[in-house]
Amino acid sequence: MEILRDPAAMCELAGRFRAKGLRIGLVPTMGALHEGHLSLMRRCREENDVASWSLFVNPTQFAPHEDLAAYPRDPAGDMTKALEVGMDLCFAPEAAVMYPPGHRTVVEVAELSAPLCGASRPGHFRGVATVVSKLFHLMQPHTAYFGQKDYQQSLIIRRMVQDLGFDIEIVVLPTVRGPDGLALSSRNAYLSPAERAAAAALPAALRWAEEEFARGGRRAAGLVEGMCRILAAPAPAHIAIDYVEVRAAEDLATLEIIDRPAVVALAARIGRTRLIDNTLLTP
Ligand code: PAJ
Repeated sequence: MEILRDPAAMCELAGRFRAKGLRIGLVPTMGALHEGHLSLMRRCREENDVASWSLFVNPTQFAPHEDLAAYPRDPAGDMTKALEVGMDLCFAPEAAVMYPPGHRTVVEVAELSAPLCGASRPGHFRGVATVVSKLFHLMQPHTAYFGQKDYQQSLIIRRMVQDLGFDIEIVVLPTVRGPDGLALSSRNAYLSPAERAAAAALPAALRWAEEEFARGGRRAAGLVEGMCRILAAPAPAHIAIDYVEVRAAEDLATLEIIDRPAVVALAARIGRTRLIDNTLLTP
């Protein structure tokens, strides 16, 4: 697996692949790879001539008080895992070359970036859209792979690709979960055993919402209430709800009655760890 750290060299190599008519797939990541990332990489490997991925803990998507410095890092382990999947190419730049002094350009996807995680993490999605557009320009993929776990992020990337005319297909793959139902996340590494046990309430709340919906529950407020009750039940560690919301899957518009495809999204803090998860409901 070739590892590139220089943006100009990355761009040049991608250009050569394209000139040869090779199909390039890209999995953008911040590393600390788990089975969720690897599921995207396997699909990328299957569908492309050149399977590439990026390893970059993007500072601009973290607020000053967030966990940038503490974000789990295991570059050597990540390289081994990606190699095992059969990835061809890793782009792993330093922050100083991605954002050199004088860097001023940002990409902002209005409205879609405002609710849910955008409300509790101001500026987060501006950082995501900016870095992903830079990765797209440098790595020139035909197809890029994202996880449904970050549903709002995937919507924002799709919108950005349309609005800026990137000729890139966006593939969004299902959330990979642990045996207790908890969505795999690099941040799960922060959880103590008690916190991990408590965290199982997140997927439990989403499964309850799915069941309630299957029983005919169509009132968004009813679903939110039921989920909040599950998250508030006594647990080995306290769950502080950040948001629990039901919104239109297409554009995150608010919904009172689920009369079109909807996303049930939640975020919660357990100890110092912020976790997110979601599920889709289709009437
Ligand atoms: P990161 O959190 O490392 O996630 C990289 C990709 O893996 C994202 O598309 C995310 O949705 C996906 N992913 C994470 N957990 C998953 C799971 N349990 N099942 C399936 N897919 C999962 O998301 C980012 O990095 C960054 O914001 C990035 C897009 C790289 C921009 O910096």
